[in-house]
Amino acid sequence: MAEQSRKQAIQTLLSTEQIHARVQALGAQITADYSASVEQGRELVVVPVLKGSFVFAADLVRGIDLPMTMEFLGVRSYGDETESSGVVQITHDLKRSVEGKDVLLVEDIVDTGLTMQYLLKNLATRNPASVKVASFLHKPARAKVEVPIDYLGFTIEDVFVVGYGLDHAQQHRNIPYLGVLENG
Ligand code: IMP
Repeated sequence: MAEQSRKQAIQTLLSTEQIHARVQALGAQITADYSASVEQGRELVVVPVLKGSFVFAADLVRGIDLPMTMEFLGVRSYGDETESSGVVQITHDLKRSVEGKDVLLVEDIVDTGLTMQYLLKNLATRNPASVKVASFLHKPARAKVEVPIDYLGFTIEDVFVVGYGLDHAQQHRNIPYLGVLENG
């Protein structure tokens, strides 16, 4: 019964097949772009931004055919339920230094851009060799600041999406496709 109502309430925006194909393509592109620096002995560190990017990151890293390490950043953005304020609290910090390393930040979605803007400024102070951004989604209609997205999964309209790691009130992260809450 609960399964039935969940399915009715969420409309598919991107299927698991569409997502898989795009994420594999991003992995191949990242592999090509970083192979020279990795061959020169530089460390590639993939940094998922928790919680929302955990599903995207898990698929993306399995599409990267290079030696690499992972570190995790947890963030909480202050604001109301639907709008981030740009004031970001780090709830889980990197456990190893990224100095001299190539950092690939992995986000679920760049919405206003405020969270990513904060993270890019924060990471720059840690002297990495480079910082690039992979984001599963981008909602340009809501952008308040421009942030560079080097590897983008999909651009979407101004709708609130759930699934593939993204939540509404902490629910729906486990849905394998990307959906729109019909009453959300
Ligand atoms: P920004 O600072 O406005 O770019 O916010 C980014 C964060 O807001 C993301 O990492 C998500 O956690 C959350 N977010 C923004 N839009 C959505 C959405 O449509 N569904 C679920 N979470 C969202």
